[in-house]
Amino acid sequence: MLIPISGAGQDARIVDGADGVQRAAEVLRSGALAAFSTETVYGLGADATNDEAVARIFEAKGRPKFNPLIIHAPDVKTVKSLVDWNERAEKLATAFWPGPLTFVLSRSDDCPVSLLASAGLETLAVRLPSHELAQSLLKEAGCPVAAPSANKSGHVSPTTAHHVAGEFGEEVSVILDGGPCQVGLESAVVDLSSGAPALLRPGGISRDELEAVIGPVDIATPESPVKSPGMLERHYAPSTPLRLNAESADENEVLLGFGPEAPSSSRNLSAGGNLVEAAANLFAYLRELDAECLAGIAVMPIPESGLGAAINDRLRRAATSS
Ligand code: TXA
Ligand code: MG
Repeated sequence: MLIPISGAGQDARIVDGADGVQRAAEVLRSGALAAFSTETVYGLGADATNDEAVARIFEAKGRPKFNPLIIHAPDVKTVKSLVDWNERAEKLATAFWPGPLTFVLSRSDDCPVSLLASAGLETLAVRLPSHELAQSLLKEAGCPVAAPSANKSGHVSPTTAHHVAGEFGEEVSVILDGGPCQVGLESAVVDLSSGAPALLRPGGISRDELEAVIGPVDIATPESPVKSPGMLERHYAPSTPLRLNAESADENEVLLGFGPEAPSSSRNLSAGGNLVEAAANLFAYLRELDAECLAGIAVMPIPESGLGAAINDRLRRAATSS
């Protein structure tokens, strides 16, 4: 008798329909990663309010630095609780949401989104996807979802569930299959957080379409540095001087530890030496220590492997700007 091999050639992580939505929502709520279809490209999702879940996105993508992620929500009401909404956002949302357009706005005072998700920026990128399965997932998950494109760093963005399956191993436990993406390129990102609006990334909605609704929109290009994304990304940098690769704290300094060797009196990014935990704690601890008005923050060495590269990249930049 032939024993049918169930799902031969199929990937067990690929799910669809209402059951698939349930499963992916559970995965998100548990703090693990769920990839899902949107109208633009497939996203690699995590609960945006969970620091460790967000750290797992960076770990899975293998990017050597933290870049700010887009936060996905099911409705405008949810978005308004995350950011300081304004008139231009209202007009553009009325015209293009749900759809392939992302707004950059200031984080609200009580914004529950992980500081790591916005890579320490004071602003947040937010979007309401129009894809039906994405909307069902966001409603069912009940949390804002951070989701960059579901590909390894440097690879092209995936537009089918099978592309995603080929990119990741078991670090992605479920892939919600909504068919091939209709738009096939990322959302346009427009900065509405201050002054003149600026198109940070061209995408699913064109500059002309935006200008028809809100008037002139600057374009961020390497030739117009005034509005380059680098200038607009106001990264949080502590005002307290940072000393890296420190073995111990000098007088008046506080030690930011890593690993089991750190004295128990110090703030420890991860006593167990876990880099995902360290990344999850990084921005919150820097802010806390900075607020204590100390003479300096001495940071113990962090290994360069895995997420350590991104942690060290951010610490080095904080050390040179303080
Ligand atoms: O279509 C899309 O937008 C897809 C799907 C999954 O929704 N997502 C996506 O996310 O492309 P990601 O993380 O690959 O792209 C994020 C873009 C980057 O260009 C980043 O620099 C910009 O958004 N961005 C995010 N937060 C920002 C912020 N606070 N300020 C300026 N730019 C920001
Ligand atoms: Mg991408």
